[in-house]
Amino acid sequence: MAGYLIQGGRTLRGKITVHGAKNSVLPILAASLLNRSPEPIRLEGVPDLYDVRAMLSILANLGVQSTSQGSDIVLRTDQADCYHVPEFLMREMRSSIFLLGPLLGRFGKASVCYPGGCAIGKRPIDLHLSGLQALGAIIEEKDGYIHARGKLRGATITLAYPSVGATENLILAAVLARGVTIIQNAAREPEIEDLQNFLNKMGAAVEGAGSHTITIKGVHELGGASYKVYPDRIAAGTYLIAAAITGGQVTLLDAYPEHLQSLLQLFVQAGLEPKIDGHSITLEGKPLKAVPEVVTEPFPGFPTDLQPPLMTMLALCHGVSRVVEKVFPERFHHVPQLNKIGARISLRGNTATIHGVRRLYGVTVRATDLRAGAALVLAGLAARGETYVSDIKHIERGYENIHLALNSLGARIERVAST
Ligand code: EPZ
Repeated sequence: MAGYLIQGGRTLRGKITVHGAKNSVLPILAASLLNRSPEPIRLEGVPDLYDVRAMLSILANLGVQSTSQGSDIVLRTDQADCYHVPEFLMREMRSSIFLLGPLLGRFGKASVCYPGGCAIGKRPIDLHLSGLQALGAIIEEKDGYIHARGKLRGATITLAYPSVGATENLILAAVLARGVTIIQNAAREPEIEDLQNFLNKMGAAVEGAGSHTITIKGVHELGGASYKVYPDRIAAGTYLIAAAITGGQVTLLDAYPEHLQSLLQLFVQAGLEPKIDGHSITLEGKPLKAVPEVVTEPFPGFPTDLQPPLMTMLALCHGVSRVVEKVFPERFHHVPQLNKIGARISLRGNTATIHGVRRLYGVTVRATDLRAGAALVLAGLAARGETYVSDIKHIERGYENIHLALNSLGARIERVAST
């Protein structure tokens, strides 16, 4: 597996633009299936990520034609003629579960295999399935496959938990359903608003994204659209943390401070002074103070996806910090690797206690999953000496050329092809 060889101890300075949001692009690519017309869909500034390529190969398998034009992707979806997602492709990416909604909406049937679990814990889909049943879908589970069928009609659905994926799946299933669908206790993440904006550009009638209640009025047909997704708030937060722990000064261009409020408030608690100027955020590293407690929660709470990168920063804060992981309680595979590099983190259930240290020391560590890998890259930047992060395929699922972005700020990271 390929790896990153990181020379630590360098200060990061400069400006970067963050790539488009992975967790917006993926549901939006799935949403393109709802367009039966020959009008093309153009997505601008699509990040070159492993998961995006995996989704495009799934869509190709369903009959969608896509062409890349620079960082734009143009899709022709009228030829799509298949509603069965083969297992080998589903295994490539868990989050293809939100193909269920658009396939049902378009074809009245869908067959996808049960998405595998992953390093961050169990990934149940009960909220997805019960919501689709409320819309009139008949769901059968056989040999690890989910077979859904039915002519969908509007319904009021209350989610037991504000699941991002379930909210997206149900919006997509409701867009072409007959009548009005109301989703209560919906997820409020910015990616939901991105999806709503894209769907409405195609001619859908979705409103309420960003609030707890989303209303979808079913329409008969959608058309083509051009759309540019939000910047990736998790990548943005990761790069700001890089500035915080290397004592440098980094400015993010084209960021959305309102997507990062919980992190920005946490930076202030740690003794930092983020500067906001419209769509740019500047952060200068300073001596860091421990943060008594961070709890991960659905948006607008602190995002679970930034918990591993944040833990690297807390490992270097003076004092004792605690992190309570309430979204994915097992999301701590980065902890043993961070301790290997010199952090002092102990775990008890879903709570991590971090005793700040003055130094981390370069060593070979392994990326176990996407955000854990990002945390290790950050640790390598701050560590004294050389750090080798292996299994970086996980990282490249969700960060576009993270080594080039950080090198443009003064880091020294070499991408070493698999040995
Ligand atoms: C999305 O995953 C993101 N992935 C995740 O990002 C992110 O961590 C997560 O939302 C939370 O923000 C994409 O958008 C592709 P959930 P998703 O459904 O939709 C429980 C990354 O690193 N749950 O909001 O799978 C579940 O067990 C990835 O970019 C049910 O119980 O997250 C978890 O405890 C990792 N039943 C909680 O909800 C269900 O049917 C949050 O899951 C669905 C979820």
